[in-house]
Amino acid sequence: MGEGAQEPTTVSGFPIEAVYGPDALADFEPATSLGEPGTYPFTRGVYPTMYRGRRWTMRQYAGMSTAEESNRRYKYLLEQGTTGLSVAFDLPTQMGYDSSAAIADGEVGKVGVAIDTVEDMKALFDGIPLDQVSTSMTINAPASLLLLMYQIAGEEQGVAPGQLRGTIQNDVLKEYIARGTYIYPPAPSLRIIADTFGYCAEHLPRFNTISISGYHMGEAGATPVQEIAFTLADGIAYVQAAIDAGLDVDAFAPRLSFFFVARSTLLEEVAKFRAARRLWASIMRDRFGARDPKSQMLRFHTQTAGVQLTAQQPEVNLVRVAIQALAATLGGTQSLHTNSYDEALALPTEKSARLALRTQQVIAHETDVPATVDPLAGSYLIESLTDRIEAEARGYLQRIDDMGGAVAAIEEGYQKGEIERAAYELAKDVDAERQIVVGVNRYRTDEEITPDLQRIDESIRDGQIARIDRVKAERDQAGVDTALDEVRRAAEGDDNLLPPMREALRRRATLQEVCDVLRDEFGAYVPSETF
Ligand code: 3HC
Repeated sequence: MGEGAQEPTTVSGFPIEAVYGPDALADFEPATSLGEPGTYPFTRGVYPTMYRGRRWTMRQYAGMSTAEESNRRYKYLLEQGTTGLSVAFDLPTQMGYDSSAAIADGEVGKVGVAIDTVEDMKALFDGIPLDQVSTSMTINAPASLLLLMYQIAGEEQGVAPGQLRGTIQNDVLKEYIARGTYIYPPAPSLRIIADTFGYCAEHLPRFNTISISGYHMGEAGATPVQEIAFTLADGIAYVQAAIDAGLDVDAFAPRLSFFFVARSTLLEEVAKFRAARRLWASIMRDRFGARDPKSQMLRFHTQTAGVQLTAQQPEVNLVRVAIQALAATLGGTQSLHTNSYDEALALPTEKSARLALRTQQVIAHETDVPATVDPLAGSYLIESLTDRIEAEARGYLQRIDDMGGAVAAIEEGYQKGEIERAAYELAKDVDAERQIVVGVNRYRTDEEITPDLQRIDESIRDGQIARIDRVKAERDQAGVDTALDEVRRAAEGDDNLLPPMREALRRRATLQEVCDVLRDEFGAYVPSETF
């Protein structure tokens, strides 16, 4: 939001007027622009009663060091009232490497939990009945493998696959644009994702197969318009890939989900979420012929904007997160993670993670936000912004279509270039103090705040290596070898990869052993020089 010399604009870059009145809604048609909550085009929300029927899921992203340590944090969060689990994996796991790989040195258990085999997955959920919780897993390139480990852990707890609920992020296209935890080139990655859609439709019908993410693009500098446009463009690519693989759109589309950021610019963010729902509904109905209303619903998770948290005066972040959480709930999110105030400094402590959860509980139980559906509807500003954001996002979608779709545009470096330009403009606004960041470029203090920070013990890797060695010593090696050969055979053909991968994991093949077979078959992705 610009201030001072130039006229204020939205984060998306178009002017924001001092006053909005009836003329802002001259051609506004409530029946077609809004519809009823829970009906097409879902502008007002995906369920008829929204939070009156059920509050959004309070789903705090967490995971550190070992499965046992993370298990303790999940149990703590459940005791404190969290209503959904959300697993953060360490970088080696996200990249399909075992903790014993040389490349894993220094990263094991650092930004999330280390998971090498089904044994670690069972320890991660020890004492947590998997038919009683829904679990999100922030994992992309090897998402199908972690999902299969979760299914096996459930089966070995006595929970049938059809009872398992949760979400895998499984959105590799955004990893090529932002974040970078890809393994294989786009084509085989899309094949694995389509195989996962088909497998879940048959075996894990309550599991959300993908969380098509705009969060990381937003955190990298994308504007709200770019965030939803590039995310929905990725969604179009996934839907098309699944249809090309022979799946009926209504067989898999109800289990697609999305993931966005919530910035402090609350009003624009509410309009962004509403525009995204209406846009996706029309894409699914008109472009893909989806007839099931559940295929047309954009259900999403939100995380408050980590990039807007400051290391300076970190307690001020509590205020930022509260405003961002209001943006998400006024915008109709289905699930929400609120960042901890000390996240700009290190992994959250129990106390800061509890404070983040309490922020959601205050909105849920002490405000009137949940009392009514889409409370800002009909506002001159909100409806005008919703229309404008939708129109600008459609412009981006058309440009990406003209380039041959999201994958072609990614290979041109288009989305990455647009995001970098937007990030540069924002950085210039902050430097010039057109964009004020409280405590950073104004209202500074020289006090050194040192919150109670969580430190990770570097010796975790040794423990993980010992666990892998124990699993390998106890498993039937010939059975593992045979199972890995079956994975290779499926990769060389076009059979669904998940059943043979499940058998290999059940026989205690490690994550990397399976990923290495696919690396042999599909190769590793190397960014094009235009990046
Ligand atoms: N009326 C009727 N039914 C209702 C209702 C209402 N008002 N509200 C909810 N329900 C029902 C739903 O239909 C659903 O039933 P179903 O399971 O039979 O379909 C059930 O109650 C649960 O509701 P939701 O599905 O809306 O809520 P969930 O929390 O289960 O799912 C989601 C939300 C967005 C669809 C799902 O995909 C999800 O949980 N995503 C989370 C993703 C996530 O946590 N990502 C973290 C990423 S961290 C990261 O990447 C950042 C890092 O890199 C820094």
